[in-house]
Amino acid sequence: MRLGVNIDHIATLRQARKGHDPDPIAAALLAEMAGAHGITVHLRGDRRHIQDRDVELLRNAISTRLNIEMAVTEEMGRIGSELAPHQVTLVPERPQELTTEGGLDVPSHAAAVHAFVARMHSAGVLVSLFVDPRPEQVHAAKASGADAIEINTGQYAEATGARAAEELKRIAEIARAAAAEGLEVLAGHGLNYVNVIPIVAITEIVELNIGHSIVSRASLVGMDRAVRDMVALLGR
Ligand code: PXP
Repeated sequence: MRLGVNIDHIATLRQARKGHDPDPIAAALLAEMAGAHGITVHLRGDRRHIQDRDVELLRNAISTRLNIEMAVTEEMGRIGSELAPHQVTLVPERPQELTTEGGLDVPSHAAAVHAFVARMHSAGVLVSLFVDPRPEQVHAAKASGADAIEINTGQYAEATGARAAEELKRIAEIARAAAAEGLEVLAGHGLNYVNVIPIVAITEIVELNIGHSIVSRASLVGMDRAVRDMVALLGR
């Protein structure tokens, strides 16, 4: 299973002083050296952590895949097609949220998502849609022409006991349905070194995007060790 390391919170720490340290580009290169299969960043409309300069530098510096999370806006459409990363992941964005709160409601934004996917494809960029584990989202994702879905594991990560088991079942069913539709299946949000284990067992999921738990561990033991520990858990 591939690991995409989300380095947004390296930039969060930098923005706390609005200086240069720590540098997300250095973090990305260390993550790659430790075995990450890709680097993910969320270029938010409010630029609260990752900046335009970061995505431009990452585009040229990393040797794995750059995945940029973005909202479906005209500004992001321009950046995605000009920068042409390996992939963009479309996410909903609310200015006051602490982090992405839920999946993109694809059926409600079908026309805009379809047009965005077409624009990215004409620039040679793959498109993944961050969606809640619901059948209608899978069907709408397929209809939009997207290449992949990233299943939102946030509800699973927050749940405990029987609720967590239910959420896990929902994720497994949606992963199977999406793979049967020919979509590549990714997952992420709220995953850590403990709750990731049952997700790794879902064979249709080929990649996880993990940020906060890896950067948190990296702040104590270093990026190399934090990424290696997660890569080891994802080995099937
Ligand atoms: N996937 C998506 C679409 C996200 O928005 C985020 C958070 O930026 C992540 C994965 C990573 O979540 P976490 O930081 O909780 O691992």
